Amino acid sequence: MKKVPLGSTGIDVSILCLGAMHLGSKEDEATSVRLLDQYVEAGGSFIDTANIYAYWIPGSKGGESEHLLGKWMKQRGNRDRLFIASKVGFEVPAEGVARSTSAQLVVAECEKSLKRMGVETIDLYYAHNDDRNTPVEETLEAFHKLKKEGKVRFIGASNFRAWRLEQARWVSNTKGWAEYCCIQQRYTYLRPNPGADFSPQVALNDDLLDYCANRAITLLAYSPLLGGAYTRKDKTLTAQYAGPDADARLAALNAIAQEVDATPNQVILAWMMHSDPVVVPVMAASAEAQMQENLGALAVTLRAEQMARLNAAGA
Ligand SMILES: NC(=O)c1ccc[n+]([C@@H]2O[C@H](COP(=O)([O-])OP(=O)(O)OC[C@H]3O[C@@H](n4cnc5c(N)ncnc54)[C@H](OP(=O)(O)O)[C@@H]3O)[C@@H](O)[C@H]2O)c1
Repeated sequence: MKKVPLGSTGIDVSILCLGAMHLGSKEDEATSVRLLDQYVEAGGSFIDTANIYAYWIPGSKGGESEHLLGKWMKQRGNRDRLFIASKVGFEVPAEGVARSTSAQLVVAECEKSLKRMGVETIDLYYAHNDDRNTPVEETLEAFHKLKKEGKVRFIGASNFRAWRLEQARWVSNTKGWAEYCCIQQRYTYLRPNPGADFSPQVALNDDLLDYCANRAITLLAYSPLLGGAYTRKDKTLTAQYAGPDADARLAALNAIAQEVDATPNQVILAWMMHSDPVVVPVMAASAEAQMQENLGALAVTLRAEQMARLNAAGA
């Protein structure tokens, strides 16, 4: 699988990241293991999890995804061939963990994540949200301490506005601390309607795209396939996206999908991977056929003219 630079870390990561949010909870162990194997067999090595995944699934309390990953890595003996990302910052109600990136919580949750996964280091550790109640310095100093101790290799941000990312970068540079090398945001081919609220999630916007294009900060897109709503009759497009702009974008998407003999889901993922700057999709699947389809996006080539049509489509 093709690799792309991760910010200015000097490290390259798989261009298609696997989202492990539902592995070990919504997806049972056997299915989760099959999906992970499938991704790795396709050459992928970049896997995304978080301390909270997935407490909202009935019967879960959070940590199931990390635990499943740990078990799978032990069985396969493949830890050293993978690049594992985890996150801290959202609440874990059953464990009494607050929504925060206070120093105390960042350090304590990192220890728990390391233990659940049975690893010595988390390759990429994200602030899962932008905690406006904790000083930026406090969070970054805690991340820096974890980096110095070898518990995390690199740090990233998720659900941050561009100006807050720049503020954090300035603090890191001034203090000589680790700096956020990437930003993981909600992003798909359809554009949110004006005023659409995803709180506490933050959608990628033009401001952030422009910021990342001018700084060596890698963009990652979560929920790229809108839960399957592009192609499935059992899923609906939410009001946050539905409307004339979506209709125009869907028409372009379907036309290009026909031209390149791919599915709309594959074209969305390929469009991100062909974008400038590159957007790394954080892709998830619940079944082998879905995974196969999504991995097929790696073989889709979009010509510059097709990219231009996809980009220009809209109401
Ligand atoms: N940083 C953050 O705040 C944040 C937030 C959310 C997610 N994430 C990360 O991003 C990853 C992906 O998020 P997401 O699950 O919301 O992504 P998504 O792309 O919106 O949805 C994935 C779901 O879409 C369906 N699907 C996938 N491929 C399909 C296909 N080829 N055909 C039909 N349906 C298909 C499946 O739904 P069914 O399960 O219904 O079959 C699958 O579970 C997560 O695993 C997590 O790592 C991060």
